[in-house]
Amino acid sequence: MPRIDGQRLLRDLRQLAEFGRYKTGVHRPTYSPQDVEARRWLVERLQEAGLMAEIDGIGNIMSTSPAKGPKLLIGSHLESQPHAGWLDGAMGVIYGLEVARAFREDPTCRDLGIEVAVFADEEGHFGSFLGSRSFIGELSEDDIAKAANRTTGQSLPEALAEAGYAGRPRYVLEAGRHVGFIEAHIEQGDTLESSGKRIGVVTSIVGIWTYAITFEGQQNHAGTTRMAARKDAGVALTELCHAVAQRFPEVAGLRSVWTTGRIRLEPGAASIIPGQAEMIFQFRDADPERLRAMELELEALVAQSDAAGPCTASLRPLSRSIPNVMAEPVQAALDQAAERHAPGSAMRMPSGAGHDAQYLARRLPAGMVFVPSIGGISHHWTENTADADLVLGCQVLATAGEALLRRPESGHAEA
Ligand code: GLV
Ligand code: MN
Ligand code: MN
Repeated sequence: MPRIDGQRLLRDLRQLAEFGRYKTGVHRPTYSPQDVEARRWLVERLQEAGLMAEIDGIGNIMSTSPAKGPKLLIGSHLESQPHAGWLDGAMGVIYGLEVARAFREDPTCRDLGIEVAVFADEEGHFGSFLGSRSFIGELSEDDIAKAANRTTGQSLPEALAEAGYAGRPRYVLEAGRHVGFIEAHIEQGDTLESSGKRIGVVTSIVGIWTYAITFEGQQNHAGTTRMAARKDAGVALTELCHAVAQRFPEVAGLRSVWTTGRIRLEPGAASIIPGQAEMIFQFRDADPERLRAMELELEALVAQSDAAGPCTASLRPLSRSIPNVMAEPVQAALDQAAERHAPGSAMRMPSGAGHDAQYLARRLPAGMVFVPSIGGISHHWTENTADADLVLGCQVLATAGEALLRRPESGHAEA
């Protein structure tokens, strides 16, 4: 059985967190100088682990193992949300590195290939799952040409050129090369902690649908414009937020969630009636029909706001990621590995966060393993996981990986 080195794993995780360090977390937006440096650092670590590793034309890192026969692909992402945590994405990448090293160091596993992938922009600074979509052949050159940074407006081609990735080929998954894909991740919620469990075996991953809703009114003087004569885009926006809060529970499922993550009022001054307002609105569910029902409700509410006046309202979809279910054989291998290393510590659970695994699952048997997030906190710099859980999760991944590679279908013999 491959034995991971817990101290080496923790040391690499902490070293990676130095790239873009922010308080106790990291600020490492996609293609920022900190992100580019982190990618370069990881390529060197993968090469030291005996893999061939390179960065491609979208910023993905793909590594290849010299081992013969089908391989297991392990990976996640390196960029972070703004001012966020040190483990989201990074943990799954360093787990891949550590598992590759553990296989190489074990004479009985040396010829079982572990390959590590890093998918760019899972966090959606420029788009929706750019790296994993590129890797499965579902991202066109036109998609790249049209994408821009959601905060700064910088075009994706310009950002790729600045990072030094423009013009490089983009790696595409080779059919038949891998027995499957596993992404390890922090849970980012409190289900494991509140259930007293240490390992989550993921059953499904949500789709995330995101929109910009824009209101046009009339910018004017906040003191001299009579209330009845105003066209206040800020009022129209808050009324829509209220309507969503009233109506969405009627169409939502048990696990549906929705968020207004950003509101912008123009020009945004105390003495000016906002002439324009924009909100970024997102909802999530694992059921495609439920997602469509929520979209229809949102379209109806925006149309009602527009018809009622005095401001106009319009809806623009920004992205619609595709939900997916995880492969049963991968779930079973993770259950068994967890039972071996920490009996009674695992539970199956759906993921309310989006992950690259939902796109890899379109081409490969894919699965995910979660470890607990302390206090259920994530997308915040205080995000953390107990060291013992970080080590356990990686060992569970290594053991499950060996089992998958040794299944008769994989073409490798029993040890
Ligand atoms: C991914 O980070 C998500 O927001 O679910
Ligand atoms: Mn993540
Ligand atoms: Mn995230």
